[in-house]
Amino acid sequence: MPDRYYMNPKSAARYERDMGRLRDTIEDIPFYVELARDAASRGEPVLELGCGTGRVTIPMAQTGAAVTGLDSSPAMLAIAKTKADGAGVTVHWVEGDMADFDLAERFGLVVIPFRSFLHLISAQEQTGCLQSIHRHLITSGMLALNFYVSPEGGTGSARASQVYRSMRLRNVSRGEMEGLFDAAGFEVEALYGWFDGQEFGPDSSELVWLARRTST
Ligand SMILES: C[S@@+](CC[C@H](N)C(=O)[O-])C[C@H]1O[C@@H](n2cnc3c(N)ncnc32)[C@H](O)[C@@H]1O
Repeated sequence: MPDRYYMNPKSAARYERDMGRLRDTIEDIPFYVELARDAASRGEPVLELGCGTGRVTIPMAQTGAAVTGLDSSPAMLAIAKTKADGAGVTVHWVEGDMADFDLAERFGLVVIPFRSFLHLISAQEQTGCLQSIHRHLITSGMLALNFYVSPEGGTGSARASQVYRSMRLRNVSRGEMEGLFDAAGFEVEALYGWFDGQEFGPDSSELVWLARRTST
């Protein structure tokens, strides 16, 4: 079920105001932009899920990629549209639920930046999201996403959730995510510990995944 927090126009405006102040909302942009540039060079469209106010969506579209941004919050999408129009950038904005969506297009790249995947608060929704992505990727298409290392760490974190402001997030451990990928037909191509491509290790605070759609 989409998070209600972002439905509130005041929350959307606060989100937009706070973005760009944190290291993790600055250093992720080049990572996703380069992936979008590669997709554009192959003529493959790009889909961002939980695109919010277009923080990553708009720079990706500026590479020349044909970008679709999907979000459940009309308030977040309204800000994104205004920003894109102001920048003269074309993005296809879609209001929808990333747990279960059906678009009349297939993509070479799907991205879920800034932990939006954790807004899916049950294993069922997270699995539904990965299955929806699988249906929308071309053969060998790529999924890129990131989320933080669960405060609990280890394997028990799959059951835990936490509340940030009034949002509920479902934590996912590395091991659980590997299982979710496998079950939904993805192969993990890389797991980084940050957006500069450093290898994931015990001191990493972020899980940055690249997963490829397998043929089945
Ligand atoms: C942390 S924000 C990230 C926004 C943007 N990707 C960024 O990096 O700035 C999470 C976004 O996910 C959206 N969201 C939450 N649950 C969703 C769902 N089930 N389907 C689609 N979007 C969802 C929220 O509306 C919000 O815009």
